[in-house]
Amino acid sequence: MPLSSDPIWYRDAVFYELHVKSFYDSDGDGIGDFRGLTMKLEYLKDLGVDCIWLLPFYQSPLKDDGYDISDYYGILPQYGTIDDFKEFIRAAHSKNIRVIADLVLNHVSDQHPWFKEAKSSKESSKRGWFVWSDDDQGYPAAPIIFRDVEISNWAWEPVSRQYYWHRFYSHQPDLNYDNPEVREEMKRVVRYWLSMGLDGFRCDAAPYLFEREGTNCENLDETHAYFKELRNIIDREFPGAILLAEANEWPNEAKRYFGNEDEFHMVFNFPLMPRIYLGLASESSAPIINIVDQTLPIPKTCDWGIFLRNHDELTLALVTDEERDIMFQAYAGNPKMRLNLGIRRRLAPMVDNDRPTIELLHGLLFSLPGTPILYYGDELGMGDNIFLGDRNGVRTPMQWSYDRNAGFSRADSEQLYLPVVINPNFHYENINVESESRLPTSLLNWVKKMIRVRKKFSDVFGHGSMEFLEHRNKKVLAYMRRLENSGMLCIFNLSRKPTYVELDLSRFRGLRPIEAITDAKFPQISDRPYFFTLPPRAFFWFNLKLDDGEED
Ligand code: NOJ
Repeated sequence: MPLSSDPIWYRDAVFYELHVKSFYDSDGDGIGDFRGLTMKLEYLKDLGVDCIWLLPFYQSPLKDDGYDISDYYGILPQYGTIDDFKEFIRAAHSKNIRVIADLVLNHVSDQHPWFKEAKSSKESSKRGWFVWSDDDQGYPAAPIIFRDVEISNWAWEPVSRQYYWHRFYSHQPDLNYDNPEVREEMKRVVRYWLSMGLDGFRCDAAPYLFEREGTNCENLDETHAYFKELRNIIDREFPGAILLAEANEWPNEAKRYFGNEDEFHMVFNFPLMPRIYLGLASESSAPIINIVDQTLPIPKTCDWGIFLRNHDELTLALVTDEERDIMFQAYAGNPKMRLNLGIRRRLAPMVDNDRPTIELLHGLLFSLPGTPILYYGDELGMGDNIFLGDRNGVRTPMQWSYDRNAGFSRADSEQLYLPVVINPNFHYENINVESESRLPTSLLNWVKKMIRVRKKFSDVFGHGSMEFLEHRNKKVLAYMRRLENSGMLCIFNLSRKPTYVELDLSRFRGLRPIEAITDAKFPQISDRPYFFTLPPRAFFWFNLKLDDGEED
């Protein structure tokens, strides 16, 4: 099946984020690889995935799980060869699945030959590829991102006796984008992987490319200008490929990454994500309504990427201190669950494995304006391991079956890159693809069904307008997604108790709400307020249709 030629294919797509090392180990060394991933493509196809986002698979000493790259043109041997990669892309495309990959532009590993050369002497030809200073006082307004580990964005280099700039770990020196050689080299990297068949990039740490004194060194015009140059390359040389921005910024800055339809195709909706959880914790629709209003409208051919969880801590950088406290209390009671400004947990354990809450979260994910992006394993309700360091607790092996190592690998268990989850509430013997596939009511089967429904109504969900409905119950979130004659009414009870809501739907009089997942018919809409009762954490999607006179 050929890939669709629709240039804005991403608006109708479901994305799935995964790490090659975590998905399936084909050669029994305890680490997932491209061959293994290729073997599991059918699972992703069956789930309804249209685009895979691969976490970094390049050469790396793996001190930041591959976000510390030591060769942009090479694949980490444990993950396979270039031929394995090409075969994976070919096989994915043959199943009509696109593939994007992380592009780490901002920084490299301190093991990268460029940095090794640069630090060898002040006269080195690569010296200007990094940002150096005689003191550590520059750019004081730039926040420290990994604040639990780093105390400064400058690190001392003892051989050439200067400080170098780094926004993340000190072993990740920032590249100097004021240097034209750096800008050109990274364009070469972009062309290299797109020529290999990749369908685009998730651009890591997008806001931080340039530094300017007197600013927080984020979202600078120069940074936007560089991304516009990359977009230009894509539009001219690789049409159909996309750029997706990781920009953990407030709506006014995050939206700027769309440019004038000449920068990013997609931007992660970082402002919305924590407010979904805040809405649940505070049993109030206000945080979600306020932020969605600030994130819309966006240019026509662009799209938000919506996500509930990813491979990092659930960042709380974009909430107030008071809101952060509410979130920590609700979702991270144990200090081990916290990291930097966030919560290092997976979706299911974070909400105490409460099935109605997990369903409601997916009801939002699949109906709010934007492209849904799933994190591997969350479709199963996978658990986490807060006793593993850094963000490793949410990066454990995918759980395929109740066999040894959850069917992920034939290696000795001690050899796995990380242990599988054996916490009794989330034990892999229970939570795995094979068992869940057999159980009609499993979370996996439910998510699969939701993806089908999302796709059935992809026009209205992927392209429709968004309007919040006013009413008197703040525990209930109600909105309409509309496109031409289609209308989807979405209602969510954010509270832990049953509740009710009266909606003025009189402008839809004569239509009938048909529950979108089961096709259950509700009474015709009239001029009178429409009354809904909602069990705890329940949600409904109602397709508003002309009354065909038939009863259920
Ligand atoms: C954001 C990535 O998502 C995270 O995992 C990484 O540590 C930093 N960028 C640094 O590359």
